[in-house]
Amino acid sequence: MAYFLAVANRKGGVGKSTLSVMLAHAFAVWGKKRVLMLDLDSQCNASLILIGGQGWSDARKAQKTIADYFYDLFDGVPAQPRDYLLPNVGDVHDGSGRAARINLLPGSLLLEDIQGELFLKQSRESNSPDVVASRVRGRIETLLRRFGASYDLVILDCAPGLSLAALAALKTADKVLVPFRPDYVSQLAVDRIALLIEDKGHLDALADVPFDERRYTTIANGVRNTGKDRIMIDDIGAFHPMLETTMPHKDAIANAFDWEPGLKNLGEKYGDGTRDLEKLYSEVAPWLEAHGAARAAS
Ligand SMILES: Nc1ncnc2c1ncn2[C@@H]1O[C@H](COP(=O)(O)OP(=O)(O)OP(=O)(O)O)[C@@H](O)[C@H]1O
Ligand SMILES: [Mg+2]
Repeated sequence: MAYFLAVANRKGGVGKSTLSVMLAHAFAVWGKKRVLMLDLDSQCNASLILIGGQGWSDARKAQKTIADYFYDLFDGVPAQPRDYLLPNVGDVHDGSGRAARINLLPGSLLLEDIQGELFLKQSRESNSPDVVASRVRGRIETLLRRFGASYDLVILDCAPGLSLAALAALKTADKVLVPFRPDYVSQLAVDRIALLIEDKGHLDALADVPFDERRYTTIANGVRNTGKDRIMIDDIGAFHPMLETTMPHKDAIANAFDWEPGLKNLGEKYGDGTRDLEKLYSEVAPWLEAHGAARAAS
């Protein structure tokens, strides 16, 4: 049974898709895990990073996207979740020349429409928007969980904001990684998503949950070596669990956003960002495993 790792922040452009894909590569190649990436963002960036524009366009034509999966299953089409996945995606090999074992449920521009349609459908059965939203979220959650069976790790790359799909991902996730950029808005955005993840109404209640019992951790991304960045990071770290690893702002990491035909090794893919990915992976892997051990014991 897979661990579900959501990568989420209601703030946009903080590196959710970038870190999702970097971790997918690290777990598949270094960790030899079977990894599945679920692209829950209608911008489809994780898909574009893993299969490129043409690949994504082909996936749409072949009706292998999250929207097709949701539409079909809500309509009762007897399909299997695996029918919608693309196998062995990405432009990285596993060290022996074979493509890294990452499967992908491609994203879709229609994901928002679907959430709206589901909401309307459910509205016929209840007048309470809260009840409707929670039912739709519950349906999406069930559909996401169905992917767990054949993987070690399922990564959910969430859209910015708080879509029902993002809320479903937060519920589904065993752990949530919350990347942030060190700036003033980030503190508020991290506070907000932390309340949702821990299901607390206000920050005082959140503060009562010890850091090592929280389901999420934050990570500073796009860090430049300035005093201002350090102060922002320390401010957020005073209230939220945070990885020791910080991801620097590097061209090599930005460039890895672009899919290229052919397979390369991780070092070629991430250049001088490879060391940073090693540090990130060596901290995230035990964090997830600790959770797995706790789950196995319960
Ligand atoms: N550590 C980094 N160094 C340099 N560039 C980075 C770094 N992390 C992310 N970027 C760049 O910042 C931009 C935003 O990153 P990304 O798309 O991963 O963020 P996001 O949180 O997924 O955004 P969205 O909210 O739109 O989904 C991209 O162009 C990416 O290449
Ligand atoms: Mg993104």
